Amino acid sequence: MWRVAVLACFVTMVFGGKAPTIDLNDGHKIPVVALGTGRGTAGAAPIDEVRDAVFWAIEAGYRHIDTAAVYGDEEQVGQGVADAIKKSLVKREELFITTKLWNDKHARASVVPALRESLARLGLDYVDLYLIHFPIAAKSDGSPDDTDYLDTWKGMEEAKELGLARSIGVSNFNATQIDRLVANSKVKPAVNQIEVNPTLTQEPLVSHCQDLGIAVMAYSPFGFLVTRKTADAPPPRVDDPTLVRIAQKYGKNAAQIVLRYLVDRGLVPIPKSANKDRIAQNIDLFDFELTKEEVAEIGKFNKNVRVIHPTGWEKYPNYPF
Ligand SMILES: NC(=O)c1ccc[n+]([C@@H]2O[C@H](COP(=O)([O-])OP(=O)(O)OC[C@H]3O[C@@H](n4cnc5c(N)ncnc54)[C@H](OP(=O)(O)O)[C@@H]3O)[C@@H](O)[C@H]2O)c1
Repeated sequence: MWRVAVLACFVTMVFGGKAPTIDLNDGHKIPVVALGTGRGTAGAAPIDEVRDAVFWAIEAGYRHIDTAAVYGDEEQVGQGVADAIKKSLVKREELFITTKLWNDKHARASVVPALRESLARLGLDYVDLYLIHFPIAAKSDGSPDDTDYLDTWKGMEEAKELGLARSIGVSNFNATQIDRLVANSKVKPAVNQIEVNPTLTQEPLVSHCQDLGIAVMAYSPFGFLVTRKTADAPPPRVDDPTLVRIAQKYGKNAAQIVLRYLVDRGLVPIPKSANKDRIAQNIDLFDFELTKEEVAEIGKFNKNVRVIHPTGWEKYPNYPF
């Protein structure tokens, strides 16, 4: 608790945000909560909400925003960032912006131009983190492509050398793909962004990455907690007795307990919200800490069930799941 409190205090002084940071393997630091802006799985929410959501998030103390070329919202993210800078809430260097390379830009020569396009939409000179969104490659019509992600990674290394991305990493890579990338590259990925939540706890892949010094960002952090209430969706939900008991102990709600569970595992959760109050709740996580027993108890919800399992890609080379 003492260590977390001191770190949080240090971070508040240096970065002005609410979330502490963890060290990446390339010397940079990553704030441990990011605002998610991808809206696809959250009910195809309107893109216009993104600009305000980003502004409210920065106002509430977020310093890390997650977007991707394929979300189609980099422009709105850039507008929210620009609004916050204009109102002197933050300086650019206090923010950590993550975006991602889509599957149809995997050719080595396409990576830097794709990043330059993202930067133009964001209105930025650099991103803090650029990720290969999926290990699979596709042609522009969406059909399978056999570009090897090792070639794509060479383009990512060029982006880093040019200073267009401070850190580079991957998303949706499995352990075998991580090992092959690490064994065959100059620059080790700083991050693997994967789905982690109480119904998909991913202990083996998370430990594998962390043992290699690769930070793990946790997407769809709520799993089936608050949305996706189909009849066969696995627990927990917000009214789950275990989560309610833990939440009452700390004066928090079930969503905050799930996010703190991820933070206490050393992960970087990416909660998506476009609601001002929920955006603020989702970063109000740093005045308490779960016990090891509570982390283990929440881990018992694991069913190895994914929220995100793209259909139709199973036969593509390098399908990761
Ligand atoms: N790398 C990848 O392949 C990948 C894949 C999926 C997602 N992602 C990233 O991860 C982010 C989050 O994932 P996600 O959007 O799938 O799921 P999520 O963040 O787990 O869930 C989002 C849903 O939870 C609701 N919500 C947020 N905070 C809440 C709270 N405190 N209480 C109750 N409900 C709450 C949101 O509604 P409101 O907006 O109404 O609050 C929204 O419907 C994405 O936005 C994206 O940035 C990456």
